[in-house]
Amino acid sequence: MSISRRIADEQPDHFAFSAENKKKIKAIMAKYPKERKASAVLPLLDLAQRQHDNWIPMKAIEAIAIECDMAEIRVLEVATFYTMFNLKPVGKYFIQACGTTPCWLRGSDDVMRCVKDKLGITSGQTSACGKFSLLEVECLGACVNAPMVQINDDYFEDLDYMSMSDLIDRLNEDDVPAAGSIRGRQGSQPEPAPTSLTNVVDFPASSAKTSSKPKAGKGDDHA
Ligand code: FES
Repeated sequence: MSISRRIADEQPDHFAFSAENKKKIKAIMAKYPKERKASAVLPLLDLAQRQHDNWIPMKAIEAIAIECDMAEIRVLEVATFYTMFNLKPVGKYFIQACGTTPCWLRGSDDVMRCVKDKLGITSGQTSACGKFSLLEVECLGACVNAPMVQINDDYFEDLDYMSMSDLIDRLNEDDVPAAGSIRGRQGSQPEPAPTSLTNVVDFPASSAKTSSKPKAGKGDDHA
């Protein structure tokens, strides 16, 4: 997608960081050497997006360039490289759907077909109701629970057509389910159950603190 298509046609005349975010910027800048202010560009882009309804206007790019002592085009280069930064308005629920090989092999096409069937949108579009936006992205690092989508800050994993449909219905009611595996899989453990370390014992917190050497669990006698 060309850069110009990613940038909103209608832009606000003004952007200024809030007082609270100015304090955060000070704390962020303190982490880096004075001559390396550009290192703060990613957290500042994130702050600007969270402050401005989940998208970054060009006036914010200008403000960040000043804060980070960078050319505006350099800030824009960073903002356009990462799919998590939006340069035009998006819906309340910004769906980043992974379409990279592991997710594709596990059914990401079905997940995106579901979004299209239910919301009438494809990658880069916002639903007519304005509540949902979809963007197809590259691997989000949760391949073991493929296929998956990121919605705002959370990952929803182990999806298929039906579970994606349910997820959209719930979000439409602003009933946001718990993040993670939609099937309730713990982490990325095998299904239907763990196949190794099946005898690991959960020690009570108190004994874990006082004992320097954990007791062996059933089946862990190796000596
Ligand atoms: S391929 Fe989809 S999360 Fe890695």
